[in-house]
Amino acid sequence: MNVAATNLFEIVPLTEHIGVEIRGLDLSKPLDEATKKALHQAWLDHIVLIFRGQNLTQEQHMDATRVFGEPGHVGRPPKYFPEGFNRVLPGIMFISNIRENGEPIGALPDGEMMFHHDMIHHELPHKGTLLYSVEIPSHGGNTLFASGYAAYETMDPEIRARLEGKIAKHHYHYGSVQRGDDKGTEASAASKHPVFRTNEETGRKAVYVNRLMTIGIEGMDDDEAMPLLEYLFDHSEKPEFVYSHEWKVGDLLLWDNRCSTHARTDFPSTERRLMLRTTVRGEVIPY
Ligand code: OGA
Ligand code: MN
Repeated sequence: MNVAATNLFEIVPLTEHIGVEIRGLDLSKPLDEATKKALHQAWLDHIVLIFRGQNLTQEQHMDATRVFGEPGHVGRPPKYFPEGFNRVLPGIMFISNIRENGEPIGALPDGEMMFHHDMIHHELPHKGTLLYSVEIPSHGGNTLFASGYAAYETMDPEIRARLEGKIAKHHYHYGSVQRGDDKGTEASAASKHPVFRTNEETGRKAVYVNRLMTIGIEGMDDDEAMPLLEYLFDHSEKPEFVYSHEWKVGDLLLWDNRCSTHARTDFPSTERRLMLRTTVRGEVIPY
């Protein structure tokens, strides 16, 4: 893989369509304006940014979040704290399977998750998510990212023409399988958004439906809509559009939630996994 050097940091591509590692930055130190601007642009260009080997306080995690926009709100503060924590800043939530008194201390505790856009069942989903790994299992629990731009640009042009301008319906799913996001905050919310969404910061279009939460297309019978959606899910999740992240402790990973989906592979329920999560607030969904 070629390395594009800037005078600020290195950008190391991880796959053809999505994901780069940013090398040469210590996010516990203040960043100058030029570096922040270049990082923001790298995020728009590459969708997923990975910073390895970080050692961040919660304040520094929030500072990193602000490079990309306004931090989003999160739900209730956790009831229980894992070892090493006695508080959590507003704007930070735990993603964890660690249990205290039988209850998970964080959201999205266990196992595999299907491809999804965070909070697409809401009117205005956040535009970015940052995950910082504190404890990871010995294997599994990879996070997979799929480029919605690549899916849009390479899909069957006839199907694309049929779906252009259409509106998809989304729902928060939950039940026997773990399907859904931010479980427990507003579990029954539902929304409608364009099937193909323009990222307002890049002007590029991306597939904006996902297997976990999309339930139909407005003004179309399910007999017609579901096969089209299945095609889109299968196409979007093709391995050539996906980067699979194998976590190490101290990774900070950021994704653009407007033009990508993500999923998680299974991991042993007997091993602890703890991530700190922040979001970048959404501003608009262009129609
Ligand atoms: C999330 C999410 C995946 C993971 O935080 O929105 O989907 O690997 N996390 O925990
Ligand atoms: Mn998610």
